[in-house]
Amino acid sequence: MKKILFVGAEALPFAATGGLGDVLGSLPAALHRADGNVDVRVVIPMYKVISEKYKQRSRLVAEFTVQLSWRRQYCGVWAYKYGDITYYFIDNEYYFKRQSLYGSFDDGERYAYFCKAVMEMLPKIDFIPDVLHCHDWQSALCVIYLKRKYCYLEDYSAMKAVYTIHNIDYQGIYNFDILKDIFCLDSWDRYVVEYDGCINLTKGAIVCCDALTTVSPRYAEEIQTEYYSSGLHHILKMNKDKIRGIINGIDTDYYNPETDKSIVKNFSLDTIGDKVENKLALQKTFGLPERADVPMIAMISRLASHKGFDLVRRVADEILASDVQFVLLGTGEGELEDFFSGLAQRHPDKCGVMLAFDKLLAKQIYASADMFLMPSKSEPCGLAQMIASRYGTIPIVRETGGLYDTIKPYITSEGTGNGFTFKTYNAHDMLDAVRRALSLYCDKDEWARLVANAMKMDFSWNASAKKYLEMYETVISC
Ligand code: GLC
Repeated sequence: MKKILFVGAEALPFAATGGLGDVLGSLPAALHRADGNVDVRVVIPMYKVISEKYKQRSRLVAEFTVQLSWRRQYCGVWAYKYGDITYYFIDNEYYFKRQSLYGSFDDGERYAYFCKAVMEMLPKIDFIPDVLHCHDWQSALCVIYLKRKYCYLEDYSAMKAVYTIHNIDYQGIYNFDILKDIFCLDSWDRYVVEYDGCINLTKGAIVCCDALTTVSPRYAEEIQTEYYSSGLHHILKMNKDKIRGIINGIDTDYYNPETDKSIVKNFSLDTIGDKVENKLALQKTFGLPERADVPMIAMISRLASHKGFDLVRRVADEILASDVQFVLLGTGEGELEDFFSGLAQRHPDKCGVMLAFDKLLAKQIYASADMFLMPSKSEPCGLAQMIASRYGTIPIVRETGGLYDTIKPYITSEGTGNGFTFKTYNAHDMLDAVRRALSLYCDKDEWARLVANAMKMDFSWNASAKKYLEMYETVISC
């Protein structure tokens, strides 16, 4: 039996702010399905936002004290069986009983504590993994601790570390003053974490890990270039032999238009005519004219400019000059929220904006719209374009990261492709892609072919789960 422990800051259905939560909530089960001989478990902090229903059904499996430099902090480890997978929660109210997951002044200390607690808990819960699979900077210290400290202890001596980058923009950068006092690293560890005059936890994990993965093949190449690397391209290039890009999957049971209870009318490719019922209901929700024939473009995203909102903003009025409806769901940067609220006020018959994070409404939008716009400046993988495809909603994307790997332009003469794409991060290139989509939408037969291509794509975890298993195999044997 191979043992893998996922370490990360979020996992659905417990706590999440983005795609990382989706991955930690669905990949472990997919690995287990692909190989019943793999025991995958997951550990995240016990956040305040985790629903009582999970907390009450969890079991306390260990209690001990974590020494973080001069601090001595309580740690409780709770276990919850979600499907076939055991999820552990690291409990310390001082660090994790807060309103939001991140954004505290002491995030560095909170996740240093978390990583130290994870390392200490392993013998105590009697789970010594073959591979410690760490995700993003909040778990980077586990990789560093393993290679700099714990590997000299018997329990840990054979353990391997895999590090996955879900987004290179977040690196865990700190001042050297806290090297020892918070991160419990010694002066001789300094060179491991040092980057550009600071402590950089991601850099430390990159150099220490046995294998490095990121969430799409294209992003694996992109992060080795200056434009995409947020400064780490030199380090990534030096470690390029360790890097693999493995595309994320989505939970195809949760996102299934045939059975999804949160949408108004279920449909499949065979009953695609029923999809429009969802659109009519959504138009009502957004106070837009109830018209079956008008093309509807949707965006569901954090309102951050790197998601491409500066492009949308630049040509929004030009898009809305066509016979089209545009719906947006998301929260984020105040300036963007103001702009899009204003846009909806100026175009009440064409534009509906909901400044919220609402998973159910999101599914209704995926099921209702005709096109899904994702013009990201960078996108490590992106899940929304895959979810939209599953609901027959055609992605319009910029060719970057996972968007490039999953969405190929529709070619009318060949009937191939599953969306519309543009290359350069430029508002009018995006507008051109939107116009190509609107123009094809008028040809009902062609559009139906395109929708069929999109809905037939296999965006499940199956193929990628196998790739992770192969990678674990290689890492364990070397
Ligand atoms: C991050 C990335 C996103 C990716 C997700 C899961 O949120 O920004 O592109 O899909 O992680 O890996």
